[in-house]
Amino acid sequence: MSNFGGKKAIVLGGTSGIGLATTEMLLDGGAEVIAAGRRECEIDGVECVQVDVLDRAALAELFERNNGFDYLVNAATGGPRAIGPFLEMDLDGFQNSFAKLWGYVNSVRLGVPQMSASGAVVLISGYPARKWRAGTIAIGSVGGSVEAFIHLAANEISPVRINGVSPGLIDTPMSPLQGDERREYYAKGSAQHLIPRAGTSKEVAAAVIFLLENEFVTGTIVDVDGGAIVT
Ligand SMILES: NC(=O)c1ccc[n+]([C@@H]2O[C@H](COP(=O)([O-])OP(=O)(O)OC[C@H]3O[C@@H](n4cnc5c(N)ncnc54)[C@H](OP(=O)(O)O)[C@@H]3O)[C@@H](O)[C@H]2O)c1
Repeated sequence: MSNFGGKKAIVLGGTSGIGLATTEMLLDGGAEVIAAGRRECEIDGVECVQVDVLDRAALAELFERNNGFDYLVNAATGGPRAIGPFLEMDLDGFQNSFAKLWGYVNSVRLGVPQMSASGAVVLISGYPARKWRAGTIAIGSVGGSVEAFIHLAANEISPVRINGVSPGLIDTPMSPLQGDERREYYAKGSAQHLIPRAGTSKEVAAAVIFLLENEFVTGTIVDVDGGAIVT
């Protein structure tokens, strides 16, 4: 059981899916948690704030208000992503998929100067960064940029640590599909993986918690993907 007593965490995108599971685990460990998203939210024991990660002024105000905070997790998707064959892809859609990277960069640039020197940051990339899968070139390019950013920024923000988690196919509210259609989507999408099922938000959040707790890890990426990238 983690002990986050006395720690303050800000989880951007902490109101759904992987971010919400992280919010709940931090709370269970005794942390004071602020969860942010664009929409209103209500989570027992958590301060919910409405912030768009692309709104730098609002982010700066959030961080300043919580000066000295310990943990920054950013799991915000940022906005719509372009999915489909590259040669048919709408280029504005491809470009807009990078909202996730800009949200991450904004939060690290504006958040780290307000964090405790023993603080830690975790960002979420995604397995298409290192594994080709039909239709995912835009999100893979974004994920690859997120991972490069983590490796490089680790040098500049030390002693604050920064790491990433790269999830495989995870069953979260990101997919709007319901019922049989949803089951088929996850079954088909994971059929070739070594662990042929979708992962859960909790399985990914457990890696986020590891990276926040372990003070000897920085600049790296933990894959939580059911073996997706080695097949
Ligand atoms: N699920 C997967 O299979 C999978 C696979 C690989 C990587 N990932 C990555 O894992 C991360 C979390 O995904 P998820 O599946 O947990 O998604 P999710 O359930 O859709 O949750 C996304 C969260 O981000 C918030 N958000 C989105 N845009 C935002 C913005 N501009 N400003 C502030 N908050 C924003 C959402 O709240 P609001 O809508 O209220 O803003 C929500 O809290 C993402 O980076 C995603 O790319 C997911």
